[in-house]
Amino acid sequence: MNAPKLGLQGLDIRDEIDRLRRERNAVILAHYYQAPEIQDIADFVGDSLDLSRKAAATQADVIAFCGVRFMAETAKILSPQKIVVLPDMKAGCSLEDSCPPDQFKAFRDAHPDHIALTYINCSAAVKALSDIIVTSSSAETILSQIPHDQPIIFGPDKHLGGYLNRKLGRDMLLWPGVCIVHEAFSETELLKLMAHHPGAPVLAHPECPAHILDHATHVGSTRSILDFALSYPADTMIVATEPRIIHQMEKALPHKQFIGAPGADGNCNCNMCPYMALNTMEKLYVALRDLEPQVEMDETLRLAAKASLDRMLDMAGRTVGQGDVGTPMIKAASA
Ligand code: 13P
Ligand code: SF4
Repeated sequence: MNAPKLGLQGLDIRDEIDRLRRERNAVILAHYYQAPEIQDIADFVGDSLDLSRKAAATQADVIAFCGVRFMAETAKILSPQKIVVLPDMKAGCSLEDSCPPDQFKAFRDAHPDHIALTYINCSAAVKALSDIIVTSSSAETILSQIPHDQPIIFGPDKHLGGYLNRKLGRDMLLWPGVCIVHEAFSETELLKLMAHHPGAPVLAHPECPAHILDHATHVGSTRSILDFALSYPADTMIVATEPRIIHQMEKALPHKQFIGAPGADGNCNCNMCPYMALNTMEKLYVALRDLEPQVEMDETLRLAAKASLDRMLDMAGRTVGQGDVGTPMIKAASA
């Protein structure tokens, strides 16, 4: 239905994206939760931290960001002179939605002795109200650098915050947001799957609730989960995060079996991120062709948000892969 409106009849979308990427001096950055064909055409696929680092360092004139809006906004905050396009501007995030800036400000004002350590999955306005931004791969490294007697509020993901509190023995005050994707995993169905695959490790993202993390062999960011899967000596693994990351695992290890952790209905379709899925190859092509939709940002807001992002990059390192994964939580998989 969309093809005539977009003028795409008869085009080889892959070739056209390649041509426009060269003509525009554009770099295509993609998150691991993007559709496999988008991951395959991207110049770089990564987790939120590495994508931020790439966006900050790129020499390209245009960043085509295949992820969600807060990620593309982060690219614009860090690289204001670049044109940043997002194939579908409606690609939001339930964590961002859970944390309206006015309510977050009221929460901060109610706790004046606390600093705000804030997950990158939030709006630019919430970043501007925060002291330090973290991603799932940098949170442990950064939190370890903050004295234990410093009171902290952590938002918007209560599950990541709870995981950090438990793992590092902290007592951060938590904002009550959740990721609708990771919230949907079912412990009952996961236990059934584990029983069917004894010895298969469970690899989980810290956005999962504690009752899922309790069964995990490894907890980490998307990149950390991928690194773990590529080196762990099991033939079958259970992946408790958005299932499109499995594309990278199957490409690298086609002889192994990677099973998405199930939701309450026993399959993992409910765990596809509906926001990430809004980006398509066709929309990426149009974004490169028309340089629309572009991320725009007020300069005062950008500078305020950049301060908390710069603290993250200073504390975690600015180079891709630099000391940011934290200490992985590795338990032996049940035999
Ligand atoms: P990471 O890729 O940083 O682990 O984040 C996962 C996520 O939910 C992105 O929205
Ligand atoms: Fe947001 Fe969850 Fe989707 Fe990530 S997977 S973009 S946290 S809704």
